[in-house]
This record gives sequence, C-alpha cells and structure tokens, in this order.
Amino acid sequence: MVNARKQFESGTVWPDDTGTHINAHGGGILVDEGVFYWFGEHKIAGEAGNVAHVGVHCYSSTDLYNWKDAGIALSVSEDPTSEIADGCILERPKVIYNATTSRFVMWFHLEFKGQGYNTSRVGVAVADRPTGPYTFLHSFRPNAGHWPINVAAEERNAIYDTKLMTEMRASQGGGPDPSVVRFPFWVRDFANGQMSRDMTLFEDDDGTAYHICASEQNSTLHISQLTDDYLCTTGKYARVFNKRWHEAPAVCKHNGRYWMISSDCTGWAPNAARSSVADSIWGPWRELGNPTEGINPDNGIGPEKTFGGQSTYILAVPGKADALIAMFDLWRPENAIDGRYLWLPMRFEDNKPTITWRSEWDLSVFDDGDE
Ligand code: GAL
Repeated sequence: MVNARKQFESGTVWPDDTGTHINAHGGGILVDEGVFYWFGEHKIAGEAGNVAHVGVHCYSSTDLYNWKDAGIALSVSEDPTSEIADGCILERPKVIYNATTSRFVMWFHLEFKGQGYNTSRVGVAVADRPTGPYTFLHSFRPNAGHWPINVAAEERNAIYDTKLMTEMRASQGGGPDPSVVRFPFWVRDFANGQMSRDMTLFEDDDGTAYHICASEQNSTLHISQLTDDYLCTTGKYARVFNKRWHEAPAVCKHNGRYWMISSDCTGWAPNAARSSVADSIWGPWRELGNPTEGINPDNGIGPEKTFGGQSTYILAVPGKADALIAMFDLWRPENAIDGRYLWLPMRFEDNKPTITWRSEWDLSVFDDGDE
C-alpha cells in the first residue's frame, strides 16, 4: 500500500493504493460485510472531464483513509446509440444493496449525450458483487402518471404563476422562461415523468429506499419511494422545499429524525450549504440554515461558500455511535480530474447539524465526548 494514511486530509490530493489521486467525484459509500466501497464519477483531464467518458469508478477500504482501486464499476458505452454512450452526463452515482434480490443497485443522474441537462433522467444499473461490473438496466423520468402525495387535487389545475417565476428567474439567474411554460413543472411533467437531476438514495432502517432529486428545473426537490427490488420508483412521491432551488442532496437518519445537507443552485461554483430536518422522510422538512463553520486555509473560503465544496453524501460510520461524515466535492471544472474531496465530521449542537472545518482529522474525534 502506497502512502498508508492515518487521517483525513481535507482538499488535498488523495492517493489510492497505486498512488493515483482518487477519481470518484459526486460519490457515495456502500458498506458491505465490513468493507467500504466508494463509488463516484470518473473524470478525465480538462473541461472534457465534465461529461462522462469512462463511467463510475469504485474504490474499497476497510479504514476509510486508505482506498484500493477496484476499477470501473459501470462503463459508458462505445455504442453511440446507447443511453449511456461515451459523452453522456452521468453524475452522482449511489449504490445500495437489495436484500430481496441479493443484488447491488446503482442509481445515477443521466443526461443523454449532446442534450445538455435537458433530458433530466435517472439511470439504474445492477451487479451481483459490490465492485461490479454493473449492467445498465434502464433510464427514466420518475413517477410518470402519478400525482405527488402532498398537493391538493385542486392544485393540479393550477396555472403557472408568471410573475413569481419572472422574479425568481431574475433573482436566481436561471430557471425557465416564464413565457413558454404555462403550468407548474410537476403538472407539465405528469404524463412523461418528473425531471431528475442531482440525486441521492437513502435506505431507511426498515429497508425501504428513497430517491431524492432536484426536479422541476432544479427549483424543488422530489422524494420518491423505490420498489421493493430498488429498480424503479413506485409512484409515491412528495414535492419538498418548493421553489427553494436545493441541489446536491445528502440524507441521513440520526436520533430517529431525517437530516439533509444540500446546496444552492450555482453549477460547479460553490455556494452556501444548507441543512434541514424532518420527522418523516415525506416531510414537512424544516430548514436549519448553513451548518458549516470555519475556514479552508487553502482557498480562504468559509461557510459562505462551503469551504469551496458542494455536498454529495453523508456516511454513517458503522459501529460508532453518532459518527457521521459529511462528504463534499471541491469541483475543478477547468480540469475535472483534479477535483478534490472534503470529508468532515458532522456533529449535532442544539439539535442542529454542525460541520466544522478541519484540515486533518481521524475517526477518534467521534470518541471524544467534548467534540
Ligand atoms: C452542479 C451539480 C453537479 C453538476 C453541475 C453542472 O450544481 O451539483 O452535480 O450537475 O452542477 O454544472
């Protein structure tokens, strides 16, 4: 093992067992039989790395500091007619294990090649072993033909609030052109399925799993229940954080409640992290503000831009009480392969999550009563 590490070193080059910087961006962690598997976007050098040319990279570890290259878990296709063709956008892969089928199931944000972020789909792939290879099954827009559980029937007939959307577009520097969309997006997309961009998966204690994604042109998150085999959405879904433009959702459960870390919506550029809590996964969700504190000395960035990072996952470390690691990406869109990782302990103070900058730290922080 090259360079055995004994701690996390925030934002630095993080070599794998071959000495190469880990290439697993927008990632998440699977824990299986005492081994950690880190899945993330494999990026290539330069701006070309902002779309997928390789696939999803997997690494394995038993201590979280030292990672072994386990290869490409899901490859993009050389067939240009494939939905996951070389040059598509394949982001934020997350893997969970389905005990019913004994298969590992990967979900990711998929955009067909050459269509920008307009296709807004999820992709699903499966494997018999955690490291894969994963077989691409299908892609879709979730919940076609289903109404969200938390809107009244009369709202389905609501027409688009042009004034509100014009103001929103001006203040957020984005969003759709109000002159061309007449209905709320979730009404517009009822028949063909809801948009799904930044996403994560969350598996609850009872084995029920959920897909959480930025929908409605990124303006509103959707939370959807997965089928028992984890291969589809069931059609049961809720709209949450209506027009709050949350991206990069990461969810965990702590003390019986659901906690979310997310970001604002500014592309690869960092913005202020957000935290939220709910008693039920379906909400209502309550925003608790920016959970981050401290300064990243490498770039001088503090909470106002999340140390330069954007959330991707929250890892509950098995076997340690209250040990949660919030994972962020430090994107480098001009040279995507050089994106860095910030993993920081997530603590709870006054019933709010707190994520404090640390340049170096190890898992013993979770043993300290006074942390
Ligand atoms: C970010 C998003 C990333 C990627 C990027 C593209 O906001 O979190 O996953 O989609 O935009 O600009």
